[in-house]
Amino acid sequence: MANEFPHDFLWGASISAHQTEGAYQSEGKGLTVQDTRPREDQTIADFTVAVDHYHRYKEDIRLLSELGIQVFRFSLSWARIFPQGRGKVNLKGVEHYHNVLVELAKYKIQPLITLNHFDLPQALEDEGGWSVRSTVEAFREYALFVFREYGAQAKMWLTINEPNIMLLVDKKILGKEIPLAQKYQQFHHLMIAEKYAFQLCHEQIADGKIGPVPNISLVYAATSKPEDNEAALYFNSVRNWAYLDFSCLGRYNAVFQDYLRKNKVNIQFAPEDEEVMTTHFPDFIAMNFYTTVTVESAKNRVDMKNGISDQQSEDIVEKGFYKGFTNPYLSKNEFNWTLDPLGMKTTLQTVYDRYHLPIIITENGLGAQDVLTEDGKIHDDYRIQYLREHITQCLAAIEAGVDLIGYSLWSAIDLISVHEGIRKRYGFIYVDRDEKNEKSFARYKKDSFAWYQNLIAQNGKMEV
Ligand code: BG6
Repeated sequence: MANEFPHDFLWGASISAHQTEGAYQSEGKGLTVQDTRPREDQTIADFTVAVDHYHRYKEDIRLLSELGIQVFRFSLSWARIFPQGRGKVNLKGVEHYHNVLVELAKYKIQPLITLNHFDLPQALEDEGGWSVRSTVEAFREYALFVFREYGAQAKMWLTINEPNIMLLVDKKILGKEIPLAQKYQQFHHLMIAEKYAFQLCHEQIADGKIGPVPNISLVYAATSKPEDNEAALYFNSVRNWAYLDFSCLGRYNAVFQDYLRKNKVNIQFAPEDEEVMTTHFPDFIAMNFYTTVTVESAKNRVDMKNGISDQQSEDIVEKGFYKGFTNPYLSKNEFNWTLDPLGMKTTLQTVYDRYHLPIIITENGLGAQDVLTEDGKIHDDYRIQYLREHITQCLAAIEAGVDLIGYSLWSAIDLISVHEGIRKRYGFIYVDRDEKNEKSFARYKKDSFAWYQNLIAQNGKMEV
């Protein structure tokens, strides 16, 4: 087995539209659910200006070319192209992404485009969002349009970012709680929409490749008690396999079906769905990974309220099924996210074993409160440490036989964290703004920039 990264391994960096672009009402863009999302904490940087990537994309891409990345993962803002979600096209928005693609081509950076990353057009949300079938139709129209428009310039595509986390952590990401029955009707619509994206990409783009992009983390049982193992079985299914089984195998798996049945959730199928599910499949799996999750049984617990507040699902509670448990063997970062690089390797092995498709990691990274020194430096050795540990496990997964084709980390540039504003920074490139003040938006290279640059130049070889 290989003990080095393949010569064509894709080293990359990732962002999303609403967390970076800003310009939320510029040049004809419609509003999205991220622009209107109620925020518990109004002091966090809003997304209306974000890090002004819309106006500074040329500078950002030039910096990324200096970094040496081969692939840049970004998302299109659906409402920039269709301000009302469907119907009239906004030519300025269409042109903007052509310009971005031209800029990437100039530096030979391959685009990896997410069709939608948490920012559904508000006009569609007003009609019922993913709870109603018409949103699937609007998504088909949008996907068809962008594949035709950009297919000559972009060959690698991703569908809808983390539908699993969007539904599980709805309050944090969308600003509202979705009742359970509606949530899983949304699941069905999101997954059918994704199937149409697979179909349209393959029909419209010569050599086009497309994959789903869920957040996948193995769920561990808190103890060897059979009840805890059962809890892990259910949460693995609800959090992870329900999504990938639908995408890659075209089915509702049995454990997930049992979960739905016990919750008295009935999914409405359209007549064509059975065929759509079982006909269109992805070419690869894109996986976002931050941490693993541990659960114990919540079978006989009556003293709890169902809920979840945390991205990493550690505090999930679902009576009768599972309850989050703090893994005593793992440490945490300063934002309370559990760290588990080995868990990334075993998650990769499990995903590969189940689906036998190439995998690309499209998110993995450390959110931290970086400090800009007076001489314009950011000494983020903690991020380098995090990356070193995780990339080591990528190589271990490859050595163990996983067809891992790339690693695109979160994030290329500082952006507004979904949950915690800009005080939680992820980038290689620091952006001079804070929670309340927009400041200069000047870009500074962090120490991790030089480290990743060197790593890419060595195709992943690390000095110990
Ligand atoms: C993923 C999302 O869930 O996690 C990103 O796809 C997000 O959009 C990332 O930024 C990290 O989460 P957070 O809350 O720290 O921004």
